[in-house]
Amino acid sequence: MKVPPGRILVKTKELKLGMFVEDVGRSWLTHPWPTKSKLITSRQDIQQLIEHGIQEVVVDPSRSQVPTTSDEELGISEKATREARKLKPAQMSPPERPVVIEQVERRRTPRPESKVDPASVEDELPKARQAYKKALDVTREFIQDIRAGRKIQVSKVQESIQGMIDSVFRSRGAMAALLKLKTYDEYTFTHSLNVTALAVSVGRHLRLEREALQTLGMGAIFHDVGKFLVPDHILNKPGKLTDEEFRIMKTHAPLGAEHLLENNKELTDGMIDIVRHHHERMDGSGYPDGLKAENISDFSVISAMCDVYDALSSDRVYHKGMVPHEALKVVFSLRGRHFPEAWTDRFVQCIGIYPPGTAVKMNNGEVGVVIQVNYASLIKPRLIVVLDSKGRRMAIERNVDLTEPAHHGLDIVKIMDAKALGIDTTRYFPGA
Ligand SMILES: [Fe+2]
Ligand SMILES: [Fe+2]
Repeated sequence: MKVPPGRILVKTKELKLGMFVEDVGRSWLTHPWPTKSKLITSRQDIQQLIEHGIQEVVVDPSRSQVPTTSDEELGISEKATREARKLKPAQMSPPERPVVIEQVERRRTPRPESKVDPASVEDELPKARQAYKKALDVTREFIQDIRAGRKIQVSKVQESIQGMIDSVFRSRGAMAALLKLKTYDEYTFTHSLNVTALAVSVGRHLRLEREALQTLGMGAIFHDVGKFLVPDHILNKPGKLTDEEFRIMKTHAPLGAEHLLENNKELTDGMIDIVRHHHERMDGSGYPDGLKAENISDFSVISAMCDVYDALSSDRVYHKGMVPHEALKVVFSLRGRHFPEAWTDRFVQCIGIYPPGTAVKMNNGEVGVVIQVNYASLIKPRLIVVLDSKGRRMAIERNVDLTEPAHHGLDIVKIMDAKALGIDTTRYFPGA
């Protein structure tokens, strides 16, 4: 069955109440329902599909009402997500506007170094991909070890993290850009690694030494190991968990920390701290210890922001990931509640208000794909213009650096859904 961009194919027997079925792959003659599409509101709806021999259907996640386990686990309410979506670009807001993400541009909090990295994002992408793939194999291995009750081979993990650290020392942007361009299957494996790649990129922006980056990276790669000690039917349950299942799910943080502490003495306290405390929130609403701001380590805060950002922006079976800018807005909306203000600002500065791979519309109506963040001016990235003001493909795609005087007055006004516009953003990152 043809699956349009932004939709997902779901097996009929795995359908849940609240999912919006857009297409069942049948003409009206043999269709089980009077309407072509339908929000699943009863078991009977699913039964009708089964009785008609329909084994899979196309679901539109954006019209579905199924809560996702991860958002709950991350402590993000639907309200926070909705509020974040309302945050407007600074240029379009009234003077007495609430805090908006673009204001980070004007904040005086320490800025990441804007000096040029030794390598460009384009040159670094193939090497970043290699380091990522190597680390992905290692991650698969250690997850199997954990599941089988075996000891993790820590030195192998350390070595793969070193490869990622080497990459961010050559170019801060490549590793983070890579994550949002390529969709590797299995969230289980890639999530731990994505959080690691993001954390070391952020750490590099903050000018951390290599040793500190190792601690941060090791804590991040192991942050969810406790999940593999939680029963499979809870870990993989689509949709909402019961209170009891949620309580068990939340034990993954202390369970993981205890497991590592017992089995891998070579791991340091700083690494274990991240594993135990990556769900703590500054207002005390987190778990397992309900720590308040001053008691949460900086590395746990960085890992937690990367965790939320990756969880929100990743595609999952029942949940289409947000575009990077939207996910960043949600993290930013938790500023001062879940994460300290200064840290949230730094996070946005590091990832870039418009991360590479984001499709954006400008005030002249043209649409471009962000290629590289300009750390000295986050709202003015370098991009490739792909659609003209009437939405037509450009015959010759232009490379535009919004910081150049020639483009003065040209501003980003809107984030676009690249897939819906038929733009394949990976095309603009050949090495990835
Ligand atoms: Fe977690
Ligand atoms: Fe996580």
